[in-house]
Amino acid sequence: MEKLRIYGGKPLKGTVSICGAKNAAICILPATLLIDGTCKIENLPDIIDVRRYISVLKELGLNITQNSPNEILVENKGIKTTSCSLELCPKMRASYYLVGALLGRYKSAEVPLPGGCNFGSRPIDQHIKGFEALGAQVSTTQGLIKATTKKLVGTSIYLDVVSVGATINMILASVLAEGTTIIENAAKEPHIVDLANFLNTMGANIKGAGTDTIKIVGVKSLPGNATYSIIPDQIEAGTFMVAAAATGGDVIIKNCIPKHVDSITAKLVEMGITVEELGDSIHVKCDKRPKKVNIKTMPYPGFPTDMHPQMATLLSIANGMSILTESVWDNRFQYVEELKKFGAQIRIEGRSAIIEGVKSLDGAPVVCSDLRAGAAMVIAGLASKGVTEISKIEYVDRGYENIEEKLRNLGAKIERVNED
Ligand code: EPU
Repeated sequence: MEKLRIYGGKPLKGTVSICGAKNAAICILPATLLIDGTCKIENLPDIIDVRRYISVLKELGLNITQNSPNEILVENKGIKTTSCSLELCPKMRASYYLVGALLGRYKSAEVPLPGGCNFGSRPIDQHIKGFEALGAQVSTTQGLIKATTKKLVGTSIYLDVVSVGATINMILASVLAEGTTIIENAAKEPHIVDLANFLNTMGANIKGAGTDTIKIVGVKSLPGNATYSIIPDQIEAGTFMVAAAATGGDVIIKNCIPKHVDSITAKLVEMGITVEELGDSIHVKCDKRPKKVNIKTMPYPGFPTDMHPQMATLLSIANGMSILTESVWDNRFQYVEELKKFGAQIRIEGRSAIIEGVKSLDGAPVVCSDLRAGAAMVIAGLASKGVTEISKIEYVDRGYENIEEKLRNLGAKIERVNED
């Protein structure tokens, strides 16, 4: 087991380049099952979740050539099975996209129930409601989701909650269905637009992605034979923006889409931090103690829940009391006990963290409880005086490519060491 050791207290300075979006990659990869031909995918993030997904797709029978760490060529000449690996799937939250893709193309799917981060109950009732509305029979027993159908027929689906996963699964299942599918109350995240753009590039007919009504006109096949480049990761960009601010740094975040981080920019500016958009880069500079601010997480374009723990770290050293309210997940507060070990003053009231800013944090031994909590620990370590050791960094490796190398290039003193 490895851990990260950080000698904190150094302002981050320089330029960092953002990689492809994790949450786009992990729905575009299963979408390749829908293609009847080949496709090249560029700007894939080189992270554990992506590597696991590629292994599962290979096991199902796709030919995948890794041209470089960030580029693959996928050839779908038909698959061997529609039953997915019991070994790798439960470790991936996004394995449920295999249900939509396999059902959409091969009319049958057997997929272990998803694993991944742990922050409260993670129901999939809206996914199942959507598959059934399209004409599938679905059961969840013995840790497996099983779905079968003779054919899928387009229909109107109104999602009871704005769900990223259910919206994506509906798109995957309906691209090759007979007739037209309308998803209402759809999620609007940039990776949903990216999935729709990918599928349209491969031959699909999807309109309205990025709005709350998405229309999918079923096509007979997706010929593929095209190249697609994944959008930059807005959460990685946001994480570096917050890390720059928390260390009193001066950082240019390259290769991102500033529009996708508008809600983060707005909060940093409200805190008195300088944020400038420079084409496809963002410049973040912080030379005084940030001001307190209140934040509520919301589906896109609201403030992302996946930036909640990182932002809590910054608010821990802001001047005054901030209230950070979580409205997407039941329990995203596991980071709180760890952040307190740095000297942060936080208490939980219902779905809110009440954060009384302190002047500075002190390094501590801490543990990651999930991916974004892990990112929050890294930021706290960078912003703290003294040494921080972070265990269970495999959570961080699930979603951040070369994090310590990128931070070292910004002047951080950070190393990966063996637990023992
Ligand atoms: N929900 C339901 N029923 C469903 C599906 C969702 O009630 O059938 C509820 C959830 O309990 C939650 C809310 O709807 O309260 C939103 O859940 P959503 O389905 O949007 O989340 P997800 O698709 O499971 C993705 C990301 C998460 C990110 C959320 C919200 C992936 C693999 N995961 O999860 O990302 O927090 O959207 O933006 O794409 C991360 O990257 O760190 C991460 C956890």
